[in-house]
Amino acid sequence: MATLVKIVFNPMDEVIEVERGTILLDAIRQAGINIRSICGGEGECGTCKVLLNKGEVSDVSTKYTKWLSPQEISEGYRLACQTRVLSDCELTIPVESRIARPKILISTEMTIDRLDPASKKYLLTLSPARSDEHRLIRLRGYQGPSPKVSDDIYDTLLLMREPVTAILSETNTPPEIIDVELGDRTSSNYGLAIDVGTTTIVALLIDLTSGKILGKASALNNQITYGETLISRIGFSRKVENGLQKLKQAVVQTINDLVSRLVSSAGIENEEITSVSAGGNTVMNHLLAGVDVDYLWYVDANDKVPRSPVIKKAEEMGLQINPEAYVYCLPNVSRFLGGDAIGDVVASGMYDSDETSLLVDMGTNGEIIFGNKDWLVSCSVASGPAFEGAGVRFGMRAMRGAIEHVKIDPDSFEAGYTVIGNKRARGICGSGVIDAAAEMFRVGVLDFRGKIVEGRTSLVRKGRDGLEYVIAPAGKTAIGRDVVITQRDMDYLMDSKAAALGGILVLMRKFDLSIYDVKNFYLAGAFGAYTDLRNATKLGIFPEFPNAKICPIGNGSLSGAYATLLSVKKRDHANAIAKNMLYVDLLSDVMFSETYSESIYIPGPKELFPSYNRAHIQVKKTCHNGYA
Ligand code: FES
Repeated sequence: MATLVKIVFNPMDEVIEVERGTILLDAIRQAGINIRSICGGEGECGTCKVLLNKGEVSDVSTKYTKWLSPQEISEGYRLACQTRVLSDCELTIPVESRIARPKILISTEMTIDRLDPASKKYLLTLSPARSDEHRLIRLRGYQGPSPKVSDDIYDTLLLMREPVTAILSETNTPPEIIDVELGDRTSSNYGLAIDVGTTTIVALLIDLTSGKILGKASALNNQITYGETLISRIGFSRKVENGLQKLKQAVVQTINDLVSRLVSSAGIENEEITSVSAGGNTVMNHLLAGVDVDYLWYVDANDKVPRSPVIKKAEEMGLQINPEAYVYCLPNVSRFLGGDAIGDVVASGMYDSDETSLLVDMGTNGEIIFGNKDWLVSCSVASGPAFEGAGVRFGMRAMRGAIEHVKIDPDSFEAGYTVIGNKRARGICGSGVIDAAAEMFRVGVLDFRGKIVEGRTSLVRKGRDGLEYVIAPAGKTAIGRDVVITQRDMDYLMDSKAAALGGILVLMRKFDLSIYDVKNFYLAGAFGAYTDLRNATKLGIFPEFPNAKICPIGNGSLSGAYATLLSVKKRDHANAIAKNMLYVDLLSDVMFSETYSESIYIPGPKELFPSYNRAHIQVKKTCHNGYA
């Protein structure tokens, strides 16, 4: 018989019993504690640190030494994913390992010209039966093609007395009566627009008769403890028994929790929600629908990704709304360019304009799309997690305690900064890392190769990962240690920056575009909303676009879901955009290795940074004249 051991988790005071020998990360997940685990438990990220206060655990694994200093190991720090529990234990989950609620972007600025949702309600009349024929169904005010009616609904109808309300879905062709209700219920019809993010899920409850947003709710995606990146989630589904099922249940559970919050605050019933539109990346769309993601593990999967939208009934998906409601997932294009990016395009309107635009959604994976009403070309880049604050020694998501903006005094070299929630700093998020790098470059603490410069200030010192620059001294932080930017962090960031700029440059060269052609620069997602664009351009993440209007579009995935919930026409547009968009696979493109190499310097190729180069030449001339 298995021996059970008891684990106490502090400071949350959670207690759980597990079998002796259980991996600590699994025990933490079972206890329902959200702990960071970027790599999904492979021992490759160092984010799942815990502190052993009492009890016996397995020996220190070799993977520890990469992520924990000898001092941390002697203090009792362990990696939860590499540790087995051997006796009753007491552990602390340190503040830097906990997942707090990140800053969540809810953009609802999108407006719909004509309200035409895929789900509508009509009063129904049945004309009397003639001999052996079915009675004729008429929907008052409806002028479209004859709707499909299932035998079950028809039989139910025969037992009902008018007035009867029919719920008509135009999600498929021909339209279909998906449910009937007794009485006139035409004025209460509701839908959900959902952004199914890898980290967070945001849902809007919409009145489908008016287009009004009745409520917003958001939560961390419950999948987060199975790995924070898409690759770690695919890995989890491949290697863990029933992994796909667990991931599906986790995302569905998160959405169902949001639904209960939304319906209870709006005072409606779950069954009154009759339509859903969801924007998620390719992996999230698959997991929500319970479709196997195994093939997405392989680099040649792009051509195998279906470009048509996934459409399923709510009951089949496990959503607790009207079981007959259709769930429409915005269509995917490739492995790493999914329905969320199509939502961005719909939200921006670039597909409908004569002007050439660039749309960028930069996260762990970056999506880059150029085009106008006649053509759209795209690529995705593994921009790495540095833009989201991950993979960086003191990196964290944009949540309370994260340094989000940095300014460095050029005389003292001391950093001034702002922290989310006005708390003491716990770490630094993506926008903070970009600001810090741009500022370090400006004051000469970082050179054009992205290398930290020694000797200019005592705030630069030798550390575990080479040189490091102290942003926040221990006395001012919440973790009792200095928050630093290390050379390894900068190498990560330079890699992400070169991938982003290199990807943009590949499309520009292939399609003969210059920086002067771009008239609108749409920035989607948290990166666009919170990052200082001037610093991102100074660093060379993006080129200068002298003729472009800069347009942050917020959560484009959510806006796209909102638009396609309320307009069948927008749904048709989204489907056509995904079908016709040209996708360039950078992994197999030789030009990308060239553009990447050209972009690994700050800011990057001369033709992309005319004003930087003009200023630089000016400085050189001034210096030259000064010495003459
Ligand atoms: S090292 Fe443990 S989850 Fe990554």
